[in-house]
Amino acid sequence: MKIIKKFNKSLIAGCVTVVLVVSGCNSHQGLQQQALPEIAPTFSKDILLKNHFAENFKIGTAISKAQVLNSADPELRLAAEHFNTFTPENSMKWESVNPLPNEYQFDVADALVNFAKNNNQQLVGHTLVWHSQTPDWVFEDDAGNPLNRAQLLKVMEIHIKTVAGRYAEQIFAWDVVNEALNEDGSLRESKWQQIIGDDFIEQAFIYAHQAAPNAKLYYNDYNMFKPEKRAGAIKLIKRLKQKGIQIDGVGMQAHYSLDYPDFNEVEDSIVAFAATGVDVMVTELDISVLPFPENLAEGADVSLDVALQQQYNPYTEGLPIEIEQQLASRYQNLFAIYKKHSESIGRVTFWGVSDKQTWRNGWPMKGRTDYPLLIDRDMKLKGFVNSL
Ligand code: G3I
Repeated sequence: MKIIKKFNKSLIAGCVTVVLVVSGCNSHQGLQQQALPEIAPTFSKDILLKNHFAENFKIGTAISKAQVLNSADPELRLAAEHFNTFTPENSMKWESVNPLPNEYQFDVADALVNFAKNNNQQLVGHTLVWHSQTPDWVFEDDAGNPLNRAQLLKVMEIHIKTVAGRYAEQIFAWDVVNEALNEDGSLRESKWQQIIGDDFIEQAFIYAHQAAPNAKLYYNDYNMFKPEKRAGAIKLIKRLKQKGIQIDGVGMQAHYSLDYPDFNEVEDSIVAFAATGVDVMVTELDISVLPFPENLAEGADVSLDVALQQQYNPYTEGLPIEIEQQLASRYQNLFAIYKKHSESIGRVTFWGVSDKQTWRNGWPMKGRTDYPLLIDRDMKLKGFVNSL
C-alpha cells in the first residue's frame, strides 16, 4: 500500500530532543505534538483559503484555548492567515466562562476577541444555551434541588446578558441555542426543556437580542441533513419568526465521513433552510476517513466515548493514497454543492485548524489518528484543495 504521508526524520529527531524534558514521545500523537518545528512552515501564499473561497463565502475555523493562549502556536498562525472568521471551540461554553455561580472567567474569551480583532476577523460566539458542557449547578438551588421555570429563566437571562452583553460590539454572531433537537426532529428532553418548557428556545433568543442587539442570532445543530431533523428545525425557525423573535441563521454542523451522509440530503436541507429566509451557515465541517463503529450513531453526540479498538484506527503511520483520493472526492462533491448554493451560504467553518488537533482524533474513541481537515499534521495544505 502506498503511503503518501510519512512522518519525516526531523520530527523524529525533534522528539528525541524534546523527550529529555517532556515524557510521552512513544505515541504517534505525542510525537507530533511535541516535535513541531518552532516556526511552522507556511505553504505558498498562492492559496489562502479565505482568498480561494472569497467569491463564495467566508471561511472559518474553530480555535482552542491552547492555541489562543500561545502566540507561537503554528496553528494559530495558520488560522490568522487562512481564515476570516473564528469560532471558539470550547472557550465560550457555559462551563468555561461561568463555571460556578456568580463566577465568570473571561480571560480566554477575551484573548479570542483580541485575536479576532487584531487579525480583522469575525468572531462567532459558541454557544449560549446547550444541554452539554453546562454545569449541574445551573439547574439547581443552593440545596441541590431542581430550579423551577422562573428561577431557571432568570439564571439563563443573567448568563446570556453577562456573556453576550460583554461582547455586544465584538461578537458578530452567536450560536444562541445548540443541539436542541432529537434525530426525529422532536425537541430533546434536556434540563432546559424539562424545567422551562419548549419555549426555552424563544426565551434564549429574546435575551440574546436584548444583550447584543446588533449580533446575528443562529440555531445550530448536527445531522441537519436528515429529513426529520430538517423538518424539526424548519418548524422551530418558523415558530420563532411567527412570534416576531429575531433568528438570522441556521447552523449546519457537518461532522461527516467518507460514506456518511448522502450529500443529496445535505443539499436538500440547504435549499429548505434558505427557503425560510434565514442565512445558512456550515458551522463545524470535518470529514473523517476512519471506520465508524457499526453499532454507534454517526453525527456529533459528545456523550459517545468507547474504548479504543485498533481495527477502527488503521492509519497511524500515514494515509494511503487511495483513501486521500476518496477524501478529496468527498470534499469536491461537498464544495460543489456549497458553491452552487453560495448565495444562501454565508460561511463555511471547519471544526479545527489541522489534523493534528482535531476533536475527531478523540471521538467516539480517544487516541485515533484521523485526517478530516484541509491542513495536515505537517501544517501543509492538502494537495486537493486547489480543486475545491
Ligand atoms: O479542559 C479539560 C482539561 O482540563 C482536561 O485535562 C482534559 C482531559 O481530557 O479535558 C479537557 O476538556 C475537554 C475539552 O474538550 C477541552 O479540550 C473535554 O474532555 C472534551 O470532552 C471536550 O471536547 C469538546 C466537545 O465539544 C465537548 O462537548 C471538543 O473539544 C469540541 O470540539 C466539541 O465541540 C462540539 C461543539 O461544541 C458542538 N457540536 C459538536 C462538536 C464536536 O463534539
